[in-house]
This record gives sequence, C-alpha cells and structure tokens, in this order.
Amino acid sequence: MSKVFNSIYDLFMSQQPYAKYAQCYLRAIGDRDCSDILEAGCGSGLFIKAMNDLGLKPAGLDRDKQMLKLAKKRTSAHVYHGDICSFSSEKRWDVIYLPLDVLNYLSRYQLKKALTNLALILKEDGIIVFDVHGRKRARVMHGAFAKESINDAQYLLKSRRRGSYLVYDVDSKFNGKQEKYRLKQRIHSVNEIKWAIRRSNLVLDDCFRAWDLGVPNRHAERLLFVCSKKQRH
Ligand SMILES: C[S@@+](CC[C@H](N)C(=O)[O-])C[C@H]1O[C@@H](n2cnc3c(N)ncnc32)[C@H](O)[C@@H]1O
Repeated sequence: MSKVFNSIYDLFMSQQPYAKYAQCYLRAIGDRDCSDILEAGCGSGLFIKAMNDLGLKPAGLDRDKQMLKLAKKRTSAHVYHGDICSFSSEKRWDVIYLPLDVLNYLSRYQLKKALTNLALILKEDGIIVFDVHGRKRARVMHGAFAKESINDAQYLLKSRRRGSYLVYDVDSKFNGKQEKYRLKQRIHSVNEIKWAIRRSNLVLDDCFRAWDLGVPNRHAERLLFVCSKKQRH
C-alpha cells in the first residue's frame, strides 16, 4: 500500500471495535495452546494490540514495510517482513490467524498457495483461523460511496463489483498530502475456500458467521473459518 493510504487506513480502522474482533478469534481458538501465535497480514498492528490486551502475544507478518513501521510503533511484537505465499520460518506455530479479510487480497490461485505455505509452518496440532468477506459483501458494496474525515485526514471511496472482485477507488488526504489508491479484493466463494483448504494439507474444523460465531448463511457478510493440519497416519 502507499504511505498516505496506510496512515488513513490506520487512523480510520483504529475507530473499529478490535476488542470485539479479537474476542471472537479467541473464542474460535478455544483452549488450544497459544504459546506461539502468528498474525499473517498484521498491517499496522491494531489486531496484535487487541490480542495483547487479552493477554496473548502474537508475532506479526506483512508484506508492506510501511504497515510494519506503524505496527512497530503500536506494539512490541516481533514482526516479520514477507509474503504469506512464500514466508518460511524455523519456528513452528500453534496458531496462525489472518484477521480482517487478509485472504481477500489474494487471487484464487494465491489463496491455495498461501494456505499450503502456512500449513508448512504450523505445528502438527496447530490451527489456522481466518475471516473473509462473504458473497453478500459484494452485493452490499457494489456502487457504494463513502466520505469520511477526522481533522486533517479524509478519504473518499467508491467501490464496484467486477466479476469475483470488488474494486475500491480511494482518494485519500493526510496532513496536506493527497493520493489516489486502487484496492482490489477477491470475494472467494465458500466452495473455493473449501477446495483450497483440502488442497493445502488442511482440514476444515468449523465455519462460523463473524463476529458472533453463529451459523453461517447467505446473509452473512463475513465468514470465519477454523482449520487444522491433516494428521499423518
Ligand atoms: C485489511 S488489512 C488487515 C490488517 C490487520 N490484520 C488488521 O486486522 O488490522 C490486510 C493486510 O494484509 C496484508 N497482506 C495482503 N496480502 C498479503 C500477502 N500476500 N502477504 C503478506 N501480507 C499481505 C496487507 O499488506 C495488509 O496490511
């Protein structure tokens, strides 16, 4: 992402109820061992901070150096710079989680690549938890328009649906600097996600509606998946 857009993203997203999001993830993780947790796609560290407030100490990973700079200012977590499709570590993780639609940033092919890669750095009894936009999101956001401002920061957003993608055109302004930014998110279908999980040496344990862990249905705007490593026999 770009510098202005990153600052705008961080400022406006910090108004969101991260404590609620983190509690939902914590419930989905249940009583599993959480000694080694990695947030893949940690952005500016807002979710890491919310997890810290709940007593967990995740490390972070992101491909965007600017975002990692913001994350380092916010938390003392160890952060890795890398791409979730290719990142490797000596360390094996109990829990890898990808909150707030990180996997929507990937194509269908990259989705499988990312899950396959993350499965490699998961402990044998480890889990991967992620949330993604559901199909309803594409309907709600098609033709959407938003304009927000806080002091010297403002953005204007227009979005439209293009096939399986949502395209956001964002005009952002921060401390007098202006920048246009285009963001594309792929809305994966549930079947595509299940396919990617099967092909990634993972097993789907649960699928919920975020953020109340209710039963997912076609009205759900956001779905949360929990998967674990396929056991070797
Ligand atoms: C919507 S933000 C979510 C940030 C953070 N998880 C949060 O909850 O605030 C998505 C983040 O995923 C990162 N990301 C997207 N694709 C990635 C990839 N292939 N590898 C690593 N990070 C990626 C982006 O750079 C961005 O910081």
